[in-house]
Amino acid sequence: MKVRDIIEKACHENILTKDEIKLLLMAEGEDKNLLFKTADMVRKEHVGDEVFLRGLIEFSSYCKNDCFYCGLRKSNSQAQRYRMQEDEIVEVVKSAYQMGYRTVVLQSGEDMFYTKDRMCSIIKKIKQNVDVAITLSIGERSYDEYKAFKDAGADRFLMRFETSNEKLYRQYHPGMSFEKRIECLKWIKSLGYELGTGFLIGLPGQTIDDLAQDILLVKELDADMIGIGPFIPHPQTPLKDAKEGSVDLTLKSIAILRLLIPDANIPATTALGTLDPLGRQKGLMCGANIVMPNVNDLKYKLKYELYPGKICINEDATKCRGCIESIIVSLGRKVGQGKGQSRHYKRAAAS
Ligand code: 5AD
Ligand code: FES
Repeated sequence: MKVRDIIEKACHENILTKDEIKLLLMAEGEDKNLLFKTADMVRKEHVGDEVFLRGLIEFSSYCKNDCFYCGLRKSNSQAQRYRMQEDEIVEVVKSAYQMGYRTVVLQSGEDMFYTKDRMCSIIKKIKQNVDVAITLSIGERSYDEYKAFKDAGADRFLMRFETSNEKLYRQYHPGMSFEKRIECLKWIKSLGYELGTGFLIGLPGQTIDDLAQDILLVKELDADMIGIGPFIPHPQTPLKDAKEGSVDLTLKSIAILRLLIPDANIPATTALGTLDPLGRQKGLMCGANIVMPNVNDLKYKLKYELYPGKICINEDATKCRGCIESIIVSLGRKVGQGKGQSRHYKRAAAS
C-alpha cells in the first residue's frame, strides 16, 4: 500500500496494521509532509486550535526504582533529592492558578514517603482551595491507593509504559515488570481517571517494529492523553553513552497517534523541545495540542533532572508562561481556557 492510502485508511478507520504503521514511521519527503499535514488537519477538526497548558509540579525527586535511563534512579548518588511539603505544594498550585493554569500535574519519582494518606490529604487540600483539575504522575501503586486518590479528587493519571518490548522493559527496569505496569494502567482506566500513557523513542536496542507495537498499545489501552518523548542520555546512568532518540520519529509517532485517536490530548513534550530548539513548535504542528510548562520554584527545577539540558531550567514560572503563550500565538493558535478535559474521555463517558 502507498503511504497516501495508509494515511487515508487511518483517517477513516482509526486503526492500522503494524506493517502499515512501520511504513508511516519510515515515510520521507512528500509522504512525510502529507502525514504531518494530515495530522495537523485532524487535530484542528477534532480538538481545535486551543493549546492547553498544564502546570507541572515536580514535588519529589526521590525514587525507589532504578530505571536505566532516568537521572532520578536510586543508584544515582549524585542526584539531588528534595521533597515538598503539603503547604508548599498548595502554594505552588495557587500561584499556577493565578498565572492562568487550570490543570496541575503532580509528578514525582516513586516515593513511598507520600503514603496513601499523605497523597489524599494533598489532593483534598488542593481541591478545597483551588479550582483546578489534578493529574497525578507518581508511578505504580496498589489498586486501593489509586482508588483512594480518585475518591480524594484526582481527575487524571499519567504513566507511560515506556516500551512495549518486554525484553527491553525488563532490561531497563530492574525489579519491575511490564505485566504489572499494564495491570496498573488498566486499573487506572477502570477507576474513571482520564488515562495518559505513552513511551520513549530511541531506547538503545529499540526497533521500528517495537515503535509500531508501542503505537498499537497506546491505541489498545484507549488512552485519553498520549505522552511521547525522545530518550536523552543522562551522564549519571548506565545509558550515558547511548545515542539520543530521534526527533523525527517522535514527530511521526505523534502524528500517527493523532490519526488513530483523533480526540486525545497530546503534549509537545519538554524532551522534544530539549533535543530540538523548535521541537515543541514542530510537535504542535503535527498533531499535538498540549504543553506542560514547569511551575515550580527554580531551586527545585534544577534538582529534578530526568535528563540533562532541559529547557527553561533557569526561567521562572512567570517567564515560561509568557514564552509559551507567544509560541502558541506565533503558530496561529490560542491558549486554551478552562480545564481542557480530554474530548476522548468526554465522548467515552457520554456513550
Ligand atoms: N530521557 C527522556 N525521557 C526520560 N524520562 C525519564 N528519563 C528520561 C530520559 N533520560 C521520561 C520517562 C518518564 C517521564 C516522566 O520522563 O518516560 O515516564
Ligand atoms: Fe524513577 Fe525511573 S528511576 S521512575
